[in-house]
Amino acid sequence: MSSRYARPRGTFDILPEQSHRWRYVEECFIDVAARFGLRRIVTPIFERADLFERSVGDTSDIVEKEMYVFSDRKGRRFALRPEGTAPVVRAYVENNLHLSQGTARLCYSGPMFRYDRPQKGRYRQFYQYGIEVIGSDHPAIDAEVIGVATLLLQELGLTGWRLEINSVGSPATGDAYEQALLDYFSPHEAQLCADCRNRLVKNPRRLLDCKVQGCRDLAVDAPVMLNYLDDDDRAHFAQVQEHLTRMSVPFVVNPRIVRGLDYYTGTAFEIIDDRLGAQSTLIGGGRYNGLVGQLGGKDRPGVGWAGGFERLLLALDEEGIAAGEPLRPVGYIVALGEQAAAVTPSLAHRLRTAGISVEFDPDKTSMKAQMKAADKCAAHVALIVGDDELARGVVALRDLATGEQQNLAEADIIARLKTYKR
Ligand code: HAM
Repeated sequence: MSSRYARPRGTFDILPEQSHRWRYVEECFIDVAARFGLRRIVTPIFERADLFERSVGDTSDIVEKEMYVFSDRKGRRFALRPEGTAPVVRAYVENNLHLSQGTARLCYSGPMFRYDRPQKGRYRQFYQYGIEVIGSDHPAIDAEVIGVATLLLQELGLTGWRLEINSVGSPATGDAYEQALLDYFSPHEAQLCADCRNRLVKNPRRLLDCKVQGCRDLAVDAPVMLNYLDDDDRAHFAQVQEHLTRMSVPFVVNPRIVRGLDYYTGTAFEIIDDRLGAQSTLIGGGRYNGLVGQLGGKDRPGVGWAGGFERLLLALDEEGIAAGEPLRPVGYIVALGEQAAAVTPSLAHRLRTAGISVEFDPDKTSMKAQMKAADKCAAHVALIVGDDELARGVVALRDLATGEQQNLAEADIIARLKTYKR
């Protein structure tokens, strides 16, 4: 049935029969993050638009083309957040988190918004999970942060991914590299797309990120940042690799990783699953040592990553992994007769108060309809209450898997039902 008020393009509804999968992946993420001492932070869904313009960069695709920007009633410019790092760093600075925690270890999840052409794995509202560790430049932290991502994928049972790492160097050493890019691309200026001709002037690194085929072909032989790193960056990157190797985290160095956001310095990485098609990046992240200072805080280095739950669920589908189980009640109350129907809501409430999940439907009266409903919601047990049972103060408990039936007093029912898992 088509609805008059269809959802906006590029968005989706998470329907009840899917919701357990979302809960499952989110819980896995929180569980793995907790093992690393990452504590949850929640920031608003909208922020000042210039927060992103400054940090993600005003020549990035996100800021140039993809932000949902709006003015409020007082004419202030806001944006629906396109990503989580800038808001988390803003919150770190604003709440002086550097005072209360040595190195802040933060994790988050929630909806993000980007106006891009929707396709498989790419939506206009999508749900990211991510982590940010702020306050240390130690290469062991880079490796640890990457380890959170790979452990999560491993715990979910995913195997078809690969980790690619790179170093994009620090801004101080970036000038020589940008000059090299200019020298390389300038003779081909006429072959570049209009956006890239602009990028040549404003931010030559963005040329490496262009999706237009002609520009991509040219970029294949462009100089790579790895060859322009200074000694410190080179040593840092080497140590990150050593730690990953000792942690038995498999990786490949890909000098062509260019992240689409401007704040990166040093380590950059992506976890790719080719089976997802064009949107194959499961997780992306890296170091951003200048961002805290840029957003008004004391200079503090940071590193983190984010992934989209949608792509994670697609990868689980690809590998045939179930991702949790739908919610099923322990008991379904089958009430036979008016008297039983009258006491069913209070019986259900007592059982629920005791921590047991039960369902019933006062609109169904026949045994057949109620047993069918018990099957449909996959209840473990039918709790049958009729005049006879009421008179004797018992409930007939039927195990729906084995068919075994037994009369039990209410006091014993609770103990018995607690032996079933949800
Ligand atoms: P990003 O590479 O823009 O990085 O996004 C990270 C991940 O979010 C992607 O790899 C993908 O899984 C998911 N994602 C991005 N856009 C969409 C979309 N339109 N639809 C579905 N999924 C999407 C960041 O956002 C950085 N804040 C990551 C980071 C954290 N770097 C350091 N800390």
